[in-house]
Amino acid sequence: MPELVIEGTYKLNGSTKIQGSKNAVLPIIAATVLINGKSIIKNCPELSDVMASIRILENLGAKCEFKENVLTVDGSKISGYTIPEVLMREMRSSSLFLGAIIGRNGKAIISSPGGCELGPRPIDLHIKSLNLLGATVKDKNGYILFSADKGLKGDNVHLSFPSVGATENVILAAVTASGKTVLYNAAKEPEIIDLADFLNKCGGDIKGAGTDIITINGVSKLNPTEYSVIPDRIVASTYISAVAATGGEIKLTNVNPEHLSSVISVFRESGCEFKIYKDEITVYAPDRIAGVSTVRTLTYPGFPTDAGPMLIAALSASKGTTVFVETIFENRFRYIDELKRLGANIKTEGKIAIVEGMENLSAAQCVCTDLRGGAALVVAALKAKGTTRIGRICHIKRGYEDIVRDLRKFGAEIYEE
Ligand code: UD1
Repeated sequence: MPELVIEGTYKLNGSTKIQGSKNAVLPIIAATVLINGKSIIKNCPELSDVMASIRILENLGAKCEFKENVLTVDGSKISGYTIPEVLMREMRSSSLFLGAIIGRNGKAIISSPGGCELGPRPIDLHIKSLNLLGATVKDKNGYILFSADKGLKGDNVHLSFPSVGATENVILAAVTASGKTVLYNAAKEPEIIDLADFLNKCGGDIKGAGTDIITINGVSKLNPTEYSVIPDRIVASTYISAVAATGGEIKLTNVNPEHLSSVISVFRESGCEFKIYKDEITVYAPDRIAGVSTVRTLTYPGFPTDAGPMLIAALSASKGTTVFVETIFENRFRYIDELKRLGANIKTEGKIAIVEGMENLSAAQCVCTDLRGGAALVVAALKAKGTTRIGRICHIKRGYEDIVRDLRKFGAEIYEE
């Protein structure tokens, strides 16, 4: 099993281009199920989650080609409606395909998604919303069967929580349903806007994406198009955390600074300085950042839960104490035991982590417990004295196209072995 080997304490300096967004491309890939023709998706990151999505599409009958960050999906022959258990297990976000599969075929079968590394990951909001749009739902032998014999029909949908995945599923189900859907308390994340922009480019009629009320007027047909996915704000946050941990100066190209404003604001408070351009940022980090006032993860535009682990890793070597509150997911702190192996001093209770910054971190053998927890270990290892080895890096490959390539561009001593 490959491991990451990192020799720490080197300051980061250099420039790298940020990959396309994982969380934007996954629902866009699901959307291609609705399109009878060739969709061309550019800036598509090469990730194991993207590969798993391609296997789902192929299983449904699509023809896919993926070369140099361009994914072509020919959905003309899609007739399948089942996501087998093995593919559901491979990627937790497989449930994102539900709305599109029902929209295309009037039915869908998936195995129950169950738990994941971030705690129980229910899809009750997805199910309730799809039910409102006309899909009947039955549970049978660990499978969930959805059917909309008369097709999906627009309605008013209120989400009790602005779930990102449920918002995407409603958009995907409603875009070719008959009539109008109004989604209240929708998620406002940039990835939702990207999905709506893609679908509108295909001829969809979606208004209000990026606000908490989205109106979708169903259209009878979507046309194939070419589309370029937004940059990955969490990968950019990871590299900001990395330079904040080590000190130095890095430039990130292909970013949308607006998507990073809550992250930039926290790191500014810690002592980092930023030069912000249209689609580039330069980060100047001091030798040792300071602790910051309480950080709470929130839905967009609040501080993203996915950027939390890497921030905590950087703060582990800060001067001062920071209180961090995780409000979105239960069990997001499993990686903290691994960070402690590197000398981090963090106490957790329920959703709260108290990070006492240490003058030094020290290298250790550790393992990734999940995607962003794995990235947090990389950030801490870059600061730690000595050679750290990180195992179970398959988690990192779900979301980072090539973290070794990117960090080596900043002069980091990191390789895979
Ligand atoms: C997406 C992102 C993930 C990010 C998260 C929050 C993708 C592929 N993943 O995940 O990286 O961390 O948004 O920004 O885009 N919930 C329910 N019932 C539901 C759905 C969600 O209770 O039916 C709860 C979840 O358990 C969680 C919270 O709502 O506590 C937020 O989940 P949600 O916004 O749906 O996240 P995901 O779409 O799964």
